[in-house]
Amino acid sequence: MYLVIVYATTDGQTRKIARFAADRLAATGHSVELLDAQDTEGLDLARFDGAVLAGSLHAGGYQKSLARFATDQAAALALMPTLFLAVSLSAAGNDPDDWAGLRRCLAEFEADTGWTPGRVEHVAGAFRFSEYDFFRAWAMRRIADQKGEQVDPGKDKEYTDWAALVLTLDGWVAGLSPRVSPRVKGGAA
Ligand SMILES: Cc1cc2nc3c(=O)[nH]c(=O)nc-3n(C[C@H](O)[C@H](O)[C@H](O)COP(=O)(O)O)c2cc1C
Repeated sequence: MYLVIVYATTDGQTRKIARFAADRLAATGHSVELLDAQDTEGLDLARFDGAVLAGSLHAGGYQKSLARFATDQAAALALMPTLFLAVSLSAAGNDPDDWAGLRRCLAEFEADTGWTPGRVEHVAGAFRFSEYDFFRAWAMRRIADQKGEQVDPGKDKEYTDWAALVLTLDGWVAGLSPRVSPRVKGGAA
C-alpha cells in the first residue's frame, strides 16, 4: 500500500509518534511518505491509498499548519481512507470532562477544516519540559499538579502507549485496499 503521513508538532511528541507510525507501516511492507504539514505544498494525494494525519492539542486547538493542510485537501481526503492521530494529554487519563473536551475540539477541527477523518485515535502525548520555556514549564507543572500527576520539571514524561498504537495502525491498514494502479503511480507507461 502507498501511504502518506502528514503531521504537525509543537514540542516534538507528535513527530515522534508520526515517525513511529511510518516505521511500523514500512516494517509491515508498505511504502510510506512522512511529511511535516508545513512542507506539503503541491502534494498530490491521489498517489496514495491512504493518509494518516497527526497533530496535537495546544490550548484546545490542533496546529494551524495541520488545519490548513486538511482544509486545502478536504476534497481529496474525502475520497480516501484516513486516520487522524489526535495527540493530547487529556487522552492519557479517564476524566469524562477531559474526554468531552477532546470530542469538542475534534468537532471544531472538523467544522473548521471540512474534513471528517475516516477513523480517529486519541493518542496520549507527553510532558516535554526539555522543550518548554519558563512560562510554559510553569503552566504545565500546574496542570500536572491539578491532575495529581507526579512530574519532575527537569525530566520529560511520556504517556504514549506504543503497543496500542501498533494495534491501531495494523488494524487501520488491514482494512485498506489499493485504489491507484501502479502505472498511474509511476507516471509514464
Ligand atoms: C501550552 C500547552 C497547551 C496544551 N493544551 C492542551 C489541551 O488543551 N488539551 C490537552 O489535552 N492537552 C494539551 N496539551 C498537551 C499536549 O497536547 C501534549 O503535551 C502533546 O504531547 C504535545 O504534542 P507535541 O509535542 O507534538 O506538540 C498542551 C500542552 C502545552 C505545552
